[in-house]
Amino acid sequence: MKAISFTQHALPIDNPQALIDISLPRPTPGPRDLLVEVRAVSVNPVDTKVRAGTFTKEPKILGWDATGIVREVGAEVTLFQPGDEVFYAGSIARTGSYSEFHLVDERIVGHKPHSLSAADAAALPLTSITAWELLFDRLGVVEGTGEGKCLLITGAAGGVGSMLVQLARKLTRLTVIGTASRQETADWVRQLGAHHVIDHSQPLLAQLQALGVPEIDYVASLTHTEQHLVSIAVLKAKAGKEQALKEELLTLIEPTRAEPGNLDYVLFEQRDEQGTFYMREAFRDQAALDAHFSMPYFQRFAATADDLLQEPLQLIFLEQVSA
Ligand SMILES: NC(=O)c1ccc[n+]([C@@H]2O[C@H](COP(=O)([O-])OP(=O)(O)OC[C@H]3O[C@@H](n4cnc5c(N)ncnc54)[C@H](OP(=O)(O)O)[C@@H]3O)[C@@H](O)[C@H]2O)c1
Repeated sequence: MKAISFTQHALPIDNPQALIDISLPRPTPGPRDLLVEVRAVSVNPVDTKVRAGTFTKEPKILGWDATGIVREVGAEVTLFQPGDEVFYAGSIARTGSYSEFHLVDERIVGHKPHSLSAADAAALPLTSITAWELLFDRLGVVEGTGEGKCLLITGAAGGVGSMLVQLARKLTRLTVIGTASRQETADWVRQLGAHHVIDHSQPLLAQLQALGVPEIDYVASLTHTEQHLVSIAVLKAKAGKEQALKEELLTLIEPTRAEPGNLDYVLFEQRDEQGTFYMREAFRDQAALDAHFSMPYFQRFAATADDLLQEPLQLIFLEQVSA
């Protein structure tokens, strides 16, 4: 049978050796295996990641998602028979699906929906399973619930996001807010059913506030998570300098928000401890943060910091660990 493989990791995809055609014997099913004649496969980020991160001398076959027709079944197979049309996401522990024939354990296979073409059905399994597990297993949302609560999906137009928006709209009562940065992706996310679409290339908080969303209950951060990570600067004023520090910090807000690499910049004052301020900050990347530190208004603030601050500036970097 024919298959598509790689041997040298991390070659640019336009290099003729990045993916090569090979011929292999047709595999024989194990006890619970189906031998599937593959009709369509899809490409997911995992294919790129495995190709980039695998050192192999033997040709390795990529591919997880597939649709096809069952041609042979293992001795203990009970759920399918030859001729069945199937779709599945396969297993990372086994040989991939970019081949004419493919073995898959019957316990992770479904009947291909009649309403979908082979190609459309092949695009579904891995993204849908990921979105399903994220929403119901990891975030713990219960089907039919979520009234009055909000789900924010960053990267909502991508493979996983597209499925997540639809599952959340069809199966829960959550308010769904998706992010997309281009007109066509924003339109797509709206078409899939999101209640609101905001732009992940702009500060998210201001857009959420403009929507009148005071609080997000669930966040599915699907891509570029590091850009949306938040740090908090804690600034404690010297006695008598509370108002002066507040005024200085307020002068930073507008110019910082106008920096192209800034995603979020909001000042809070601790309610029961006047003069203790928290600046919640998010920058696109380290270069954007470095650029911020070199801005004249930040340098001017840094020059006054000793005079205003009770203790040196403390930066806390936050990583989201719960939903
Ligand atoms: N695909 C799968 O089946 C699968 C399974 C398990 C895990 N995963 C993981 O889940 C993640 C997402 O996979 P995917 O297949 O959904 O990816 P994808 O389809 O490649 O996602 C592309 C989307 O990411 C958005 N995006 C670009 N820059 C962004 C930013 N700065 N902030 C937020 N969104 C941004 C783009 O939106 P705009 O064009 O509007 O900017 C685009 O629609 C990956 O880490 C992947 O490894 C995927």
